[in-house]
Amino acid sequence: MGLLSAELGIDLGTANTVVCRRDGTILLNEPSVMLVTLGADGNRRPILVGRQARELTGRTPVGMATVRPIRDGVVTDLQSAKGFINVVIHQVTRRPWERFRPRAICGVPAGATGLERQALVEALEEAGIGHADLIPEPVAGAIGCGIDPLEARAHMVVDVGGGTAEVTAICFGGILAASSCRVAGDEMTAALNQYLRQEHHLIVGELTAEDIKIRLRKVDSVPNPIVVEGRDVFTGKPRMQTLDPDEAALAIRPTVDGIVEALAEVLDRLPPQAVGDIMQGGVLAFGGGSLLEGFQRHLEDALGFSVTLAERPLTCVAEGAAKALSTPRVLAAFKGAPPQA
Ligand SMILES: Nc1ncnc2c1ncn2[C@@H]1O[C@H](COP(=O)(O)OP(=O)(O)OP(=O)(O)O)[C@@H](O)[C@H]1O
Ligand SMILES: [Mg+2]
Repeated sequence: MGLLSAELGIDLGTANTVVCRRDGTILLNEPSVMLVTLGADGNRRPILVGRQARELTGRTPVGMATVRPIRDGVVTDLQSAKGFINVVIHQVTRRPWERFRPRAICGVPAGATGLERQALVEALEEAGIGHADLIPEPVAGAIGCGIDPLEARAHMVVDVGGGTAEVTAICFGGILAASSCRVAGDEMTAALNQYLRQEHHLIVGELTAEDIKIRLRKVDSVPNPIVVEGRDVFTGKPRMQTLDPDEAALAIRPTVDGIVEALAEVLDRLPPQAVGDIMQGGVLAFGGGSLLEGFQRHLEDALGFSVTLAERPLTCVAEGAAKALSTPRVLAAFKGAPPQA
């Protein structure tokens, strides 16, 4: 490792990739989407990465494709992942010497298998990272929110990402219990999309459905109806439709209930002393999915615990990974964390 080479905390998410410098500066926060050209040799060459590539989802010209190199927090296609990470590293290192074997700590789902971890390290190192370490994402997120994972006190976190929702209880540098639910924010979008089609006979694209989900807001606890533009299922013509946030919430409900179940399962597996800590400290929620209107209240009602929303739910995993660069004890404690059920 060169003295001046970059030191990075990385969160390679299914939906978003965030890179944070050791000093806490966010260097990059972009959708994990890449636009590629499909060459005759079968090779995929990256043309655009991030927000600009995402804009082309559902409107990609012939000969090009948008790919999401990470699924449920793990690498699915090594070649795309390498290409993506390579562009990301290039964007966050401006000076040539920073690019010389940068060091990185990257988040990995607590439930990832040994092979999945290996694939991620391989992708990172082949993409130009000089030395890559992994840290469980729930632990990184907790650190990013100011929790000390080495403390002799149990903490419980729920990370609601795009692809997975992970619930983890940590204490004294170890994982007490974890459970993950393979549906999260993106499934909420899909449920809303399906609801509009089935109940209102309206077809909208994925980006529109996500935008509607993000716009679901109550103002002074009064639901604010949303006007949705789409195409009529029967006539094929454009049409407007008002959507009541309460009905939208109902459509999304099964995903939220799945997350509540994962939380209940982890609580069930905890020893009473640890449950006591969590009753006092509450549950910390982060990840973009935790921003869903009414999410925090719904969890509190279902569990009877207080639920705190992270201040920076979309960047705290990368921030925590960056902080771990300066805390080798934390890194060592969670480095070999065995996959949890
Ligand atoms: N204001 C909002 N309300 C509801 N959902 C939101 C909001 N903002 C973002 N999201 C959702 O959060 C999800 C992305 O969250 P995040 O960036 O934490 O995921 P990720 O880390 O990339 O995914 P994963 O952790 O599963 O690999 C998307 O499904 C997005 O639609
Ligand atoms: Mg995530």
